[in-house]
Amino acid sequence: MTLRLIQVGLGAHGLGIAHDVIVPSTDFIHVGLVDVDTDRLELCSNSLQVTIEHCYTDYRKAFSEIEADAVFIAVISPLHYDICKCALENDLHVYIEKPYTVSLEEAKELTTLAQSRNLKLMVNQNYRYFPTVMTLKNVIDRKLLGEPMFVHAQFYYFHEGKPYQRQMDNYMLMEMAVHHIDMIRYLTGRNMKSVVGRTWNQEDSGYVGDPHVQAVFEMDNGIPAFYVGSLLSHGEPSPWEGCWRIQCEQGSIHLEDLGQGHGVYVVNQQGEREKLALLELEKESVHAVLADFAESIRENREPSISGADNLHTMAALIATSLSSREGQRIMVETLM
Ligand SMILES: NC(=O)c1ccc[n+]([C@@H]2O[C@H](COP(=O)([O-])OP(=O)(O)OC[C@H]3O[C@@H](n4cnc5c(N)ncnc54)[C@H](O)[C@@H]3O)[C@@H](O)[C@H]2O)c1
Repeated sequence: MTLRLIQVGLGAHGLGIAHDVIVPSTDFIHVGLVDVDTDRLELCSNSLQVTIEHCYTDYRKAFSEIEADAVFIAVISPLHYDICKCALENDLHVYIEKPYTVSLEEAKELTTLAQSRNLKLMVNQNYRYFPTVMTLKNVIDRKLLGEPMFVHAQFYYFHEGKPYQRQMDNYMLMEMAVHHIDMIRYLTGRNMKSVVGRTWNQEDSGYVGDPHVQAVFEMDNGIPAFYVGSLLSHGEPSPWEGCWRIQCEQGSIHLEDLGQGHGVYVVNQQGEREKLALLELEKESVHAVLADFAESIRENREPSISGADNLHTMAALIATSLSSREGQRIMVETLM
């Protein structure tokens, strides 16, 4: 059964996913489009072949008038909560872009609402499904070099922020570190217990929220994870998923360029270095997340990256911001 999808948000990212992922997918078909930009809406009506009668500027109207199964929310992040709440109240399953919401309270409320209505809510933490990241996870889980002892991740980029991003609180944490902090959880299979973090800005950056972040997490099995991330750094850019070193008992596992291009490497106790072939995946990135979302609806099970799961990522982000503001260690679990 093909599921009927309303898409809200047809900006740079939303339209890319519409064309590259949703249109070729056999799981979903667009039955409605929503965007406040009427020119964009008209353009998308043609290119996505959705009749103009099913194109709306008001998501509330679209949700109440169109017969649909699910909603894909790809609008600017500060609007995620209102639109997601309205979709759930209209009994629609939700596939939502990261960051889930911009506050933990909002995310908790939506998670409870979805659960109370037996609706599927999936957050697009698509980096988990990158071939590099899945290969790294596979190597860690096989314990080729013993147990992980600590994790180090870094990400540097110079990003021309969009107008909404320039006005956001916690810009770097919410818009970018959300991927890497979610990856720390995914790769270790653990949640954050505590964090000592610092976020900061620079003079005349043009951003309200801090573009730089550093954090030391203690995972709930005691291992530390170190993270540095910046969206306002000129010079050599990191790959989107960042550069990683997982220090294990008998050697190190890397996702970076150790001489033969960006990829996954293992280095053993003798210092012998091997670049590994990436796992061959049937579907990757957003294709894989969307397919899992469809399956979760059909099988009436939790999606792999549910709202409930993502609360742990959200809590780690908010705790990092709190730690920076209060100048002290924050127990992430207490926010849950
Ligand atoms: N998963 C990823 O890797 C990834 C990558 C890029 C962006 N994103 C996320 O996708 C979301 C959108 O990002 P973008 O880069 O496409 O932003 P964008 O600014 O290019 O597009 C946002 C769109 O939302 C529309 N919009 C604004 N208010 C609206 C409203 N009230 N109702 C309906 N539409 C409205 C705008 O007109 C615009 O077309 C953000 O949450 C961002 O964090 C995720």
